[in-house]
Amino acid sequence: MPLNHPRTRRRAPRDLVVPPILGADVERVPRDELPAGGMAPDVAYQIIHDELMLDGNARLNLATFVTTWMEPQADRLMAETFDKNMIDKDEYPQTAELELRCVNMLSRLWHAPAAEQAVGCSTTGSSEGCMLGGLALKRRWQKRRRAAGLPADRPNMVMGVNAQICWDKFMNYWDVEARLVPMDGDRYHLSPEEAVRLCDDNTIGVVVILGSTYDGSYEPVAETCRLLDELQQRTGVDVPVHVDGASGAMVAPFLDPDLEWDFRLPRVASISTSGHKYGLVYPGVGWVVWRDTEALPEELVFWVNYLGDDMPTFALNFSRPGSQIVTQYYNFLRLGFDGYVKVQGYSRDVATYLSDHIAQLGPFELLTRGDELPVFAFTLAPDVKNFTVFDVADALRERGWLVPAYTFPRNRQDLAALRIVVRRGFTHDVADLLLADFERQLPRLRKQAAPVNDGAAASFHH
Ligand SMILES: Cc1ncc(COP(=O)(O)O)c(C=O)c1O
Repeated sequence: MPLNHPRTRRRAPRDLVVPPILGADVERVPRDELPAGGMAPDVAYQIIHDELMLDGNARLNLATFVTTWMEPQADRLMAETFDKNMIDKDEYPQTAELELRCVNMLSRLWHAPAAEQAVGCSTTGSSEGCMLGGLALKRRWQKRRRAAGLPADRPNMVMGVNAQICWDKFMNYWDVEARLVPMDGDRYHLSPEEAVRLCDDNTIGVVVILGSTYDGSYEPVAETCRLLDELQQRTGVDVPVHVDGASGAMVAPFLDPDLEWDFRLPRVASISTSGHKYGLVYPGVGWVVWRDTEALPEELVFWVNYLGDDMPTFALNFSRPGSQIVTQYYNFLRLGFDGYVKVQGYSRDVATYLSDHIAQLGPFELLTRGDELPVFAFTLAPDVKNFTVFDVADALRERGWLVPAYTFPRNRQDLAALRIVVRRGFTHDVADLLLADFERQLPRLRKQAAPVNDGAAASFHH
């Protein structure tokens, strides 16, 4: 089944018309059908290159958390390793070795109690890391229930309604009931009290997010763990925590070393992150680490041949590119701890500078400042009636900036906001260019008689 986008109104499929100047010996090629014959590589390249000009400029894409700039040396390593399949551990033992080193570095960075016993692996991104973390929680819960002679057919999982869509997928694909803590007033993420209230004997785990995709805020991991400790003392119900650190697990260790959110908290069973977000690697690589071998049920692990020996793997995919793992290791080696402090610190500096200045423009109110993740969300002041955040996003797009506008989920569907993700490569200079474009567009928006774009077509998908 092709997954056609319902909003994509495709014109009747028309052949691609090949301009004669390209010197091809074909004039037309079908767009949606495998062409009967081929064409010269330069012609194929030019056709595709030209079509892709319509994609947005990745560096101006302030919607994405995903890395859009790496050093030329990393680009070179990437190109040198495009051909390596990371699952071929026997054939590419050094790529497998670099993966192992990255897992070891992360388990130490996240304070695994006995780092040499921590288990973990690379993934395609946080989504797969979250799925694997969730699967381990589900299997542990099932085993516990069955061993106690109790039913194990109605698992549930607790998290904030702000959880990223990968968690909806996890719960849908693996038949886990979703128990979502709604937003409330100016609380845009999980409340530990509400989360614990939703837990019972069938709760396989609580997901705490560092930080929230909607507004960049850190959810309170330590407080959630403390209340879950109290729940266990009161009722005997023992609920582990998975930290979805898609972005924050690669920010907090460097910028907020005193914040306890990781394996320092005994209740944290597993942590996932995106190497391709603040891990600073192009898409797609992620990581998931369990606190010890007990947290990852043995029967979920498969064994592949590795240098004539067996190597454990846990993954949804089989084949996957090795180049992102190689360049994750490049970043670790090249930047070291201090380098990550500098890169993430600079991004946070730009984010707070930008949010302060946007707040001073007049019509905007900040929901967050970018002082946790270098990500902030802002909305329009209540007295602004003649334009919407969607109009602002459209106006910025005229200059190439991609700033997403979206409405919040339950119970704040009334709230529409814009969000800016500051990543490596987004400098103070670029921030000033963006501010200048806000200033350029605002007079026109202020003169507008009524909203043009009410956001009816917008939905949150990042
Ligand atoms: C909190 C959170 N979890 C999971 C994901 C999914 O990450 P990925 O795109 O790496 O699969 C995201 C993506 O933005 C996220 O912000």
